[in-house]
Amino acid sequence: MKIVLGVSGGIAAYKAPELVRRLQDAGAEVRVILTPNAARFVSPLSLAAVSGHGVIVEQWGDSGSGGVDHIEFARWADLLLIAPASANILAKLATGIADDALTTYAVAHRGDVMVAPAMNTFMLQHPTVIANVETLRARGVIILEPDTGLLACGDEGAGRLPDVPVIVERVRTHFAARDLEGRNILITAGPTREAIDPVRYLSNRSSGKMGYALAEAAVRRGANVTLVSGPTSLMTPAGVSFEQISSASEMYERVMNALPQHQIVIKAAAVADFTPVEVADRKIKKGDRDELTLTLKKTPDILAAIGERSPKPFVVAFAAETDSVEANAKTKLLKKNADLIVANDVADKSIGFDSEQNEVLVLARDGSTTRLAKAPKLVIANRILDLVLARLGRA
Ligand code: PMT
Repeated sequence: MKIVLGVSGGIAAYKAPELVRRLQDAGAEVRVILTPNAARFVSPLSLAAVSGHGVIVEQWGDSGSGGVDHIEFARWADLLLIAPASANILAKLATGIADDALTTYAVAHRGDVMVAPAMNTFMLQHPTVIANVETLRARGVIILEPDTGLLACGDEGAGRLPDVPVIVERVRTHFAARDLEGRNILITAGPTREAIDPVRYLSNRSSGKMGYALAEAAVRRGANVTLVSGPTSLMTPAGVSFEQISSASEMYERVMNALPQHQIVIKAAAVADFTPVEVADRKIKKGDRDELTLTLKKTPDILAAIGERSPKPFVVAFAAETDSVEANAKTKLLKKNADLIVANDVADKSIGFDSEQNEVLVLARDGSTTRLAKAPKLVIANRILDLVLARLGRA
């Protein structure tokens, strides 16, 4: 992995030395180019020290090599990673402006490009920024979606640079061996919505992040991925065949239709177990009643239906448990005839539902267990796929 790390001017530039270190730990060789504005936030000297190489800031020959470093780098690099990417550099990249060392290099670069936009939410939502990101995406640039949280300016919202381990995992996944080439994988993700009337529904806290991370990791590793997803606010990973559903019965239909074309099924969705017996065709009025009783009926158990198929695909189930996590997951694994089950302890709010990280216990039918320590969901996704591959290799 030969990476040119471009750093543009933004508060998150202070994470650049840590990013260089962690990329090196992952086996990458890293060279750094800073914009002059980035050099106000992070010292070129620290980056030179951690990368072990000179850092380029000035466009015109501050390394004494006649000002053609960008061509040398372009012959060398596999990936240009720009993190953080400011609104300014996104605009320059989208239009081809080359007025400093980094943007000049970006025009000369021949390999893949990955950018991590990071800025205030208002800036991120500006139509020109959205348009520039879309221009870059359409050109094949890989966009690392910014995180949501407390921003340097004190506002809360989207725009944070993803944590360094998440960026490193994206890079690792990008370079991963295409060890799932030729495999067709069906993944379910997100919540289902069970309608009560035209404006109300029963649902759950699943954000879809775990299932989408699995889809992204699998597609990067060469798999043909079908993602059947309930409603989420996530971007569909590039290269995935996407099917949007709402209710458990819609998910059942899509999954069962797609099943014959897939050798591996991963059921990360949080499917409702019950749905209203009757759906009112008009909004239910409060009137003067103090109580409302809903009668619910069981939804189709998609996982159990897959487990009864013959021939059966390789099935990875998920289990969201608040107590007796391992024992309950084991019962589900056997009852639903899955090959692996990924058990989440959803009593812990820092993992599982709607969190960036997860920590799981994977149980197999032969009784073996693998604990995957707390890590970003993309890391967990890759480790789950490693376990699937190890089992299929052995089959
Ligand atoms: O989406 P995130 O916010 O990233 O959160 C991830 C997650 C916690 C939702 C996910 O990792 C997870 O645990 N998904 C399964 C949640 C769940 O519904 O667990 P369960 O124990 O109720 O169901 C067990 C399995 O049966 C699951 O694979 C589920 O998809 C499947 N099932 C359940 C009911 C049903 N009618 N049909 C099914 O196929």
